[in-house]
Amino acid sequence: MKSIILAGGSGTRLWPLSREHYPKQFLKIGEYSLFQQTFLRCSEVSDVSEIFVVTNEDQKFYVIGQIQELGYDYPKENVLIEPEGKNTLPAICFGMKEIRERFGESNAGIFSSDHVLDSRAMQTISEAKSLASRGGYLLTFGIKPTSPNTGYGYIKPAENLGIGQKVSEFREKPDEETARRYIEEGCLWNSGMFLFNTETFFSELAQCAPEIYESFEHNEDINQVYAEVPSISVDYGVMEKSQKVAVVPLQYKWSDLGNFAALYDELDKDSDDNVVYDCELLPLDSQQNLVHSRNGKLISLIDVNDMIVVDTPDALLISPKESSQKVKQIVNQLKEKN
Ligand code: GDD
Ligand code: MG
Repeated sequence: MKSIILAGGSGTRLWPLSREHYPKQFLKIGEYSLFQQTFLRCSEVSDVSEIFVVTNEDQKFYVIGQIQELGYDYPKENVLIEPEGKNTLPAICFGMKEIRERFGESNAGIFSSDHVLDSRAMQTISEAKSLASRGGYLLTFGIKPTSPNTGYGYIKPAENLGIGQKVSEFREKPDEETARRYIEEGCLWNSGMFLFNTETFFSELAQCAPEIYESFEHNEDINQVYAEVPSISVDYGVMEKSQKVAVVPLQYKWSDLGNFAALYDELDKDSDDNVVYDCELLPLDSQQNLVHSRNGKLISLIDVNDMIVVDTPDALLISPKESSQKVKQIVNQLKEKN
């Protein structure tokens, strides 16, 4: 199968660690960045020449540099540069069109570049190919929910299809009350990973988002396409509308590092359960904090617990861990100010 890695988002929920020009997927989490981890996982199911990365001019440098760091001889023409970010639906169309032109009818896995995922999940994803091609379903991969998180899509499974189930309802980012109800009804979270057959994808696109379909179908100039298509995610644009969606549950560990609390959970902790990143921490009665600075700077905390302290050359964030999803609101305020 082919792979498409989406690496064009700005990850505003990890501000100021991830700025628009250096989004979270390129930050090293342990030995490799999330982007590198994604690429390595894709290389388990796709030949490296069949992995496509959809990104933008600013991030191209990181994409190519970080793939080279992994020691791969990667064809640069597989890096698809969007003229501007128009969310995930145009990005996926760009990748799917390129794959169809280069390889003809194909199955392609779509992967976010900001997830932590047990690589054994790739086997399940690859085995689900039969359901994408034979049954003609747009496949999504479901995660058992652990909270009524409003940052995810919710999937209601129906009839059994063997390794997966037909989806009777797909709802992107519901409010909390609705999310609770969906969980009671046995819904799964959308992992944000998909498996699409080129033919099924474009025929569903023609039904669900005809203006985007027309634009990609009848325009050879990608600048022209991006100038006219709306900004919309695949979840709102296709998955919520299509009648041909199926889900395959994933049993393996998955996490979208959407905020600092999730990042804290993921990183190694010291004996006080503090996560200390790129700095030296001198703690006094301080536990369960995430502390980040640069170049080994000394940071001391006294009686500070469950906090996020992120120090960068031009911005400092201090927030209780449990409020870290509000960082997005700060970024929005900053955008309004500028
Ligand atoms: N190339 C490109 N261009 N990539 C993009 C763009 C774009 O304009 N916008 C976002 N991406 C990339 C991001 O970098 C990320 O890797 C992936 O696409 C998903 O985008 P997010 O912005 O992180 O989406 P989300 O987390 O709000 O929601 C999606 O993922 C959830 C699970 O993490 C949805 O699919 C939800 O339904 C899902 O639950
Ligand atoms: Mg995300």
